[in-house]
Amino acid sequence: MKSPDNLFIDLHELAYLDPSAIVGRTVRIRKPDRVRIGQGSIVDDFTYISCGLTVGDYSHIGASSTLIGGDAHIQIGHFVNCSPGCRLVAASHDFVDGGLHGPPIPADYATPGIVGDIQIDDHVLLGANVIVLPGIHIPEGVAAGACTLFTPKMKLEPWTLYVGIPARPVKSRSSAAIVQAAAQLRARDK
Ligand SMILES: CC(C)(COP(=O)(O)OP(=O)(O)OC[C@H]1O[C@@H](n2cnc3c(N)ncnc32)[C@H](O)[C@@H]1OP(=O)(O)O)[C@@H](O)C(=O)NCCC(=O)NCCS
Repeated sequence: MKSPDNLFIDLHELAYLDPSAIVGRTVRIRKPDRVRIGQGSIVDDFTYISCGLTVGDYSHIGASSTLIGGDAHIQIGHFVNCSPGCRLVAASHDFVDGGLHGPPIPADYATPGIVGDIQIDDHVLLGANVIVLPGIHIPEGVAAGACTLFTPKMKLEPWTLYVGIPARPVKSRSSAAIVQAAAQLRARDK
């Protein structure tokens, strides 16, 4: 299967789109020259991407997700699954300091925001409507229940299931079968 023609851009404008990757027709990508999507990955419809983005291989961004962050970058590894409605926020207004905020405000009146690249390592699973705030590193194998909130400065443990607002660890995940299946799939596709 090939990506359908995109409603907003010519997909050749992307910095890289692997021929086996699929980007939905209604995915809106504001800065295509800063977006790279790897082998077999899928970005589902009604997703909005306004920052730099690298998606590894066999990863999935579910429908109606939002990946925002101005000049910041979001790095997504291999075999990552972001369920529908995830919000990955790599840049935000400062909600405490006074000042004017938002795209309509001229630069010389605007308050600097909070910016931090987001890194999501291999085999991470984000449930529906998970929110990731600026500067978060989600290490390998983390899973997050629906509606989990990851706030800045959180230190997360690999292969751990988190739930809740703010995220709290509830149990560990076993990695062996997952890593083995990934290696087998890689070998099959060589
Ligand atoms: C987290 C989840 C995977 C359940 O995992 P589980 O190992 O069966 O966990 P449990 O049901 O035993 O719950 C463990 C604890 O987390 C809590 N919990 C579970 N899911 C939660 C969630 N999404 N938000 C907040 N708390 C949650 C439970 O209440 C329980 O709390 P307690 O220990 O205080 O009693 C599941 O609830 C979930 O959120 N799945 C995401 C599904 C999804 O979004 N799919 C998208 C399409 S693929």
